[in-house]
Amino acid sequence: MNNTPEMAIKTLKSMPEYIALFKKAFPGEADPVTFDNMAEAIEAFEATLLTPDSPFDRYLEGNKDALNEAQKGGLKLFMDKGCATCHGGINMGGEAYFPFGLVERPKAEIIAGDTGRYKITHSKSDEYVFKAPSLRNIELTPPYFHSGKVWDLKEAVKIMGAAQLGAALTAEEVDKIEGFLRTTTGVQPKVEYPILPAPTMQTPRPKLD
Ligand code: HEC
Repeated sequence: MNNTPEMAIKTLKSMPEYIALFKKAFPGEADPVTFDNMAEAIEAFEATLLTPDSPFDRYLEGNKDALNEAQKGGLKLFMDKGCATCHGGINMGGEAYFPFGLVERPKAEIIAGDTGRYKITHSKSDEYVFKAPSLRNIELTPPYFHSGKVWDLKEAVKIMGAAQLGAALTAEEVDKIEGFLRTTTGVQPKVEYPILPAPTMQTPRPKLD
């Protein structure tokens, strides 16, 4: 978020209310406003953002009518075509890194000059390697891919077919897979947004340049 750990801590410590809240959340620590504690607090919150009871979950639990025939066809294609190899497990992804363009390099505008994991590891084999993200609730989270260049879920499915599987999916197959992906939308968490502590004169202002 264009911030640094030092600046994040400086910002939090500039507001007495945050210091009090950290003391409460991490009792017994002399200086609880640390970057690691901040990350732990965010993680503890994110762990509550569950989206259970999607039609796909109900289907997995044995309710055969939770998906219609077209959606079941989409699930079958998702497995048979190999999407589940990378987007697998309970979260349908988020478990590993893969090259984007395993079979066919996507258009340059979709990669948008980003070499992916290579920027971190400087290893040739990590060029254009990205995390295969979770596909749960995918209809709710456009735009797609690291570059955010694709807004249409069908288009994203089509690109994946060509880039990752070398499979030119037919319009009907794309429709079915997209229809299936929409069944992964679960009950969304109700988040009550807190009123954040008031800034003080010591609170760093955002740098906009
Ligand atoms: C070889 C591994 C692999 C296979 C096979 C694969 N994907 Fe992906 N998928 C990825 C990676 C890596 C990304 C992230 C690319 C990026 O961020 O630019 C991705 C991204 C996506 C996205 C965008 C997600 C988002 O939140 O932006 C969708 C949708 C998707 N894949 C669907 C599919 C479908 C449908 C199939 C089967 C036709 C498939 N994938 C096959 C690795 C794979």
